[in-house]
Amino acid sequence: MARIRSLPELLVNQIAAGEVVERPASALKELLENSLDAGARSIAVELVEGGVRRLRVVDDGSGIEPEDLPLAVARFATSKIESLQDLERAATLGFRGEALASIGAVARLAIASRREGSRHAWRIACEAGVVCVPEPAALAAGTAVEVEDLYFNTPARRKFLKSEATEFARCEEAFSRIALSRPAVAFSLAHNGRRNAHLQPEDARSRAARIVGEDFACAAVEVRSESARLRLEGLVAAPGFTRATREAQYLFVNGRFVRDKVVAHAIREAYADVLHHDRHPAYVLFLELDPAIVDVNVHPAKSEVRFREPNAVHQFVFHALSRALAAPMAKIGDVPQFPSGETAPAAGGNWGTSPIFEQQSLAVSQPRAAYEALFATAIADERRSEAAPAACAAPALGYALAQLHGVYILAQNAAGLVIVDMHAAHERILYEGLKSALDAAALASQPLLVPIAMTASAEEVESAAEGRRELESLGFDVAAAGPRELVIRALPALLADLDATGLLRSVLAEMREYGASRVLVERRNELLATLACHAAVRANRNLTVTEMNALLRQMEDTERAGSCNHGRPTWVQFAMADLDRLFLRGR
Ligand SMILES: Nc1ncnc2c1ncn2[C@@H]1O[C@H](COP(=O)(O)OP(=O)(O)OP(=O)(O)O)[C@@H](O)[C@H]1O
Ligand SMILES: [Mg+2]
Repeated sequence: MARIRSLPELLVNQIAAGEVVERPASALKELLENSLDAGARSIAVELVEGGVRRLRVVDDGSGIEPEDLPLAVARFATSKIESLQDLERAATLGFRGEALASIGAVARLAIASRREGSRHAWRIACEAGVVCVPEPAALAAGTAVEVEDLYFNTPARRKFLKSEATEFARCEEAFSRIALSRPAVAFSLAHNGRRNAHLQPEDARSRAARIVGEDFACAAVEVRSESARLRLEGLVAAPGFTRATREAQYLFVNGRFVRDKVVAHAIREAYADVLHHDRHPAYVLFLELDPAIVDVNVHPAKSEVRFREPNAVHQFVFHALSRALAAPMAKIGDVPQFPSGETAPAAGGNWGTSPIFEQQSLAVSQPRAAYEALFATAIADERRSEAAPAACAAPALGYALAQLHGVYILAQNAAGLVIVDMHAAHERILYEGLKSALDAAALASQPLLVPIAMTASAEEVESAAEGRRELESLGFDVAAAGPRELVIRALPALLADLDATGLLRSVLAEMREYGASRVLVERRNELLATLACHAAVRANRNLTVTEMNALLRQMEDTERAGSCNHGRPTWVQFAMADLDRLFLRGR
């Protein structure tokens, strides 16, 4: 083997460029982040040939001192951090001091910049790592960075670039993510001399409408949750407005677009109850937390983060979203919102607090009886309210008029006509009732007469030991019986009939990956959903007007009543204006 030697600086930067500047879109992202870090209020982007021929970003930010210009393109030179402590709490998008150096190693780079109060701007050029001396230039206060002929000196790399249209689409996506993250900043984008986007400073919902789509922004449910250390805000698709692909899923952690499997998993879980498995929710979510408890220095492109307490983040996001999605009647048409009762659906958190063995009283074997009882109280309430209609405000879903072909309920409310899918609606009511009945009873544990021994991987044995408390709260009693063996001494009572070792394996795997497990809740919910489906009123059953009204009142009081367990809507509203339009009235 040859002797070891240090590599020349240009080659070092070219190697770094492989990770930081994978394609024009990644260079664009770096330039936009620099502009935001410089406090820009307005940023203009011009691209030529998908950004490969030319990429120019002009901002009105703080600018760079002329003496600092050569440092801006030097590797490991940054104005954003000074020490390890700074790195650990960096609030800026950049901090590695390598983006411009990497770009300068694989493209022709020029930076012109003017600090406020300076007589003119200064410009510096860098080609294949060779930097020229700064010279005077013309520019308003701010910075203009120009990248030309990306990969002109690394032909092998150039070959990996896709068509102009594809590279442009990726640049557009990078632009969209940044623009979404800062609605208060103005952005413009031009490609090959044609203006592509022009965004004025606006609020977050209008920015989302411009970038994700009007339909999304109009129907989206607002999320806003805060705990001592975490805050989640943004918009998520209403259950009836989901998509066939995973596009339009934007998560920003401390203002930075990232892909994160812990949060993605929590979001999926929150939708589990209202979404068909092959549909995907669109969302624009901003998670804010103390920079000290999240590590962004995981990957050179900073597209991933690592949370110090993934479990806490998972729980927080899951509860925040569940609460937002649970609001009864959430976002269907312009119907006024109902008081949601503000209770978070219990998910694991309140399990295991009551003594074990209580769960035997669970009404699983006779859900029908349990629900007929519930139904009866609602009918009684309904009768009472019919007797004194003036005493309460007009209900959102109005009053039943008739039943259509044994499938739909027609009702009249203040806005116009409401059509309810009676089976789907009843199914949801029963399902939610079963869930809260169970949550209230807490998940009990059933000791096994003969403990089950299972072989396990070293990792599984370790997770079982570490997650002992969490496992107990789920109803499991598990202990290590050797370096590669676990014994199950007790199981969650409700799920005792299921494959115990398979169940424990999934729980351990999920706890390892996401810091928390919802496998059991999911299995339980699947069971309950099946029960609810069987117990719900079948099509072709004639309901009396009183029964129909009782169903409407229950819907108004039920969380997630806007959609059935598979994400289909349970009711639709036809406003008088819609009907007038159908009949060409008032034209
Ligand atoms: N648009 C800009 N306006 C003002 N200063 C800028 C701008 N772009 C770059 N700079 C300055 O140049 C320095 C180097 O930028 P560069 O992107 O290479 O590194 P960084 O942003 O510090 O870290 P990272 O490599 O993580 O992006 C920055 O620290 C900043 O001081
Ligand atoms: Mg940077």
